[in-house]
Amino acid sequence: MSKTYKLAIVGATGLVGRTALKVLEEKNLPNFEYKLFCSKKSAGTKLTFMGKEYIAEELTEKSFDEGFDFAIFSAGGNTSKHFAPIAVSKGCIVIDNSSAFRMDENVPLVVPEVNPEDISWNKGIIANPNCSTIQAVVPLKPLDDKYKIKRIVYSTYQACSGAGLRGVEDLITKAKGNDLKKFAHPIYNNCLPHIDVFEEDGYTKEEHKMINETRKILGRQDIRITATTVRVPVENCHSEAINIEFENDFVLEDVINLLKNSPGIIVQDDVSNNIYPLSTNANGHDEVFVGRIRRDFSNPNSLNLWVVADNIRKGAASNAIQILEKLI
Ligand SMILES: NC(=O)c1ccc[n+]([C@@H]2O[C@H](COP(=O)([O-])OP(=O)(O)OC[C@H]3O[C@@H](n4cnc5c(N)ncnc54)[C@H](OP(=O)(O)O)[C@@H]3O)[C@@H](O)[C@H]2O)c1
Repeated sequence: MSKTYKLAIVGATGLVGRTALKVLEEKNLPNFEYKLFCSKKSAGTKLTFMGKEYIAEELTEKSFDEGFDFAIFSAGGNTSKHFAPIAVSKGCIVIDNSSAFRMDENVPLVVPEVNPEDISWNKGIIANPNCSTIQAVVPLKPLDDKYKIKRIVYSTYQACSGAGLRGVEDLITKAKGNDLKKFAHPIYNNCLPHIDVFEEDGYTKEEHKMINETRKILGRQDIRITATTVRVPVENCHSEAINIEFENDFVLEDVINLLKNSPGIIVQDDVSNNIYPLSTNANGHDEVFVGRIRRDFSNPNSLNLWVVADNIRKGAASNAIQILEKLI
């Protein structure tokens, strides 16, 4: 008889958690049982999942006593820091969507199209990278393998859903002043060059995440990287302009073909017909959309890309579930 796996969804009432439920429904993995957890605030919330009504329970230190094979945590860094080690001590493998363990050298940071081999050395926790990093490294990996990346300049245009339910609310309600739930300024009609907190060097934590996580996932600490991350008044799907300098020169046609033939990528690049990736088209998909593929004439061996993906799916929920599928 085949084994039944028990999976805990922590943060099931949040944006990423609810999307994880949707992706799990689509995948309909055989022989899985589920339990949904949230904070005390929404304990008792009813969620219809797999044609059944589930009640989200408050996560406590005893939650993992009943024995789980896997847990997907999407409930913020503090929840992960406190509860993930408890889950691991009870024999559960944790796939963590928060930033709590991403740069821990004992924790693999995995995008299945890029470094699936790193899953095997996990010690109980596998980290899911930051959403803006995941969609960037999917096209960067095959390019790095072929032309060897020297330097990356990231400029991001990140959707409000990246800041969770309260971020989306600030956009939809056009919140101002005391009504703002998430952002420092109104997001409606503004681009905010401010994602996560500012660090002493003037960069934001989000910018540091992109720089450090890219190096860890690609296994290339020597790549020079800079980033400017910007929140824009788009509900879902992050867009990124990526400028890349390579060690070796390329033929543009080869780059386009390489991207077309790499896993998880859809090339949309036909400017004569105004075709390029858009947030509204990427919404609800798991692939990373790449377009505006062109040579940077201002620097040798350099390329520009426009990269769009659903930050809640590929940037969080779907990537975590792809890792789960590799584990089983
Ligand atoms: N949004 C994205 O694009 C994205 C992408 C990658 C990674 N992530 C990460 O995924 C996580 C969730 O993000 P989100 O956008 O889904 O946020 P969200 O919409 O604000 O949801 C947060 C979830 O965490 C739960 N939670 C909060 N404190 C908890 C606690 N002490 N114990 C148990 N559950 C608790 C909340 O439960 P209640 O309903 O009870 O409050 C809710 O289910 C964050 O770590 C975020 O950094 C987000």
